[in-house]
Amino acid sequence: MNILILGSGGREHALAWAVNQNPKCDTLFCAPGNAGIAAVATCVDLNIDNGAEIVAFCAQHKIEFVIVGPEGPLAAGVSDDLRAANILTFGPSAAAAQLEASKAFTKEICDASGAPTAAYACFTELVPAIEYVTAQGAPIVVKADGLAGGKGVIVAMTLDEAIDGLRDIFGGAFGTAGAEVVIEEFMDGEEASFFILSDGKNILPIGTAQDHKRAYDGDKGPNTGGMGAYSPAPVMSHVVTTKAIAEIVQPTVDEMARRGTPYQGVLYAGFMIKDGQPRLVEYNVRFGDPECQVLMMRLGAQALDAMLACAKGELDTVQLNWADDHALTIVYAAKGYPAAYEKNTPIKGLDGLNDASMIHVFHAGTKADGDTVLATGGRVLNVTARGASLQEARDRAYAAIEKIEWDNGFYRNDIGWRAL
Ligand code: AMP
Ligand code: GLY
Repeated sequence: MNILILGSGGREHALAWAVNQNPKCDTLFCAPGNAGIAAVATCVDLNIDNGAEIVAFCAQHKIEFVIVGPEGPLAAGVSDDLRAANILTFGPSAAAAQLEASKAFTKEICDASGAPTAAYACFTELVPAIEYVTAQGAPIVVKADGLAGGKGVIVAMTLDEAIDGLRDIFGGAFGTAGAEVVIEEFMDGEEASFFILSDGKNILPIGTAQDHKRAYDGDKGPNTGGMGAYSPAPVMSHVVTTKAIAEIVQPTVDEMARRGTPYQGVLYAGFMIKDGQPRLVEYNVRFGDPECQVLMMRLGAQALDAMLACAKGELDTVQLNWADDHALTIVYAAKGYPAAYEKNTPIKGLDGLNDASMIHVFHAGTKADGDTVLATGGRVLNVTARGASLQEARDRAYAAIEKIEWDNGFYRNDIGWRAL
């Protein structure tokens, strides 16, 4: 079948790499893609938030399956448009994508399904919000309700920070995403992510991971989209995973179905774990980036079978083949990221680094200029490796990244520290 992937990051390169290995895939397209994706897919310049444009492209190129990478097109209803045109689609409806697009919605789903999460209150006006945080005291967490590119959360250690955060959000720092604010109890513990496919009814866990959100070694510096990840996450033990499914994930999927907005796609659950008890921090309605890179490295070609079964409502027929292995990815970012950085700087030394299924350099913000690869984004490359142990995967990934020549890049030297 012909397949289209929407997106242009390291996440979409990892998806394209895995899908392309499956014999069911004939021609693979990616919109808009990047220089790395171009090695495994035909990149096409489409507006991925425009459902009509995507549907028209699918008709023209006989696309039978679409995989939606980022949250933007999901929240914009692109999956709905594709399904209305009878195109098999991996990704939730706009109604189900509310699990990421509105934090207040997710809290209400947790209430309705009894899922453990932080205590909270919602506000649409500054004064009562300030009164509430003052009464609760710090530490406390202030969140813009809507999609804010990962920047709408203030984990306030002091009351002043919380009040400043509220003033920013209600002052319009996040536009309409900040029209409502969720104020949450601060949760203490270790964070981990859990990825589950849901076809609306059945669920299939596809792996756990931990991200590194801060820019620099030792978890210092500003928050980023993620500077590296590994899978599996040791804190997500069998006991914690079983609890997370029974108390949080399955009740969410059941509640979404009960409301007539079944959740279909990958559900990315962020947990805070303390004393063996997971509590929900947030849901995302897409794969994590760079978490997807380590999941795809471990799943390989069978990822396509699982995503197809998910889209068809047949997840109960899927049996994943798990190697008892580990994967780790290091993000190579442009100096300056997550603030301003230089663009179009050349990267050398990429040839010959990929090693079958053991090492793969996934591209995020790159473009090709003849034979030269240029860095065009903040997060630029994801050097990803597998191993029999996390240490082995890590050693492989660091050995590979050291061979890359890029004067304008930086990476963390301590990816995986928590687990090792
Ligand atoms: P979110 O966008 O909701 O995932 O929040 C971003 C990050 O803020 C999370 O990954 C956590 O590190 C932190 N965070 C969010 N909510 C809480 C909470 N209630 N308690 C402690 N940390 C939190
Ligand atoms: N790496 C975090 C995210 O994708 O949201």
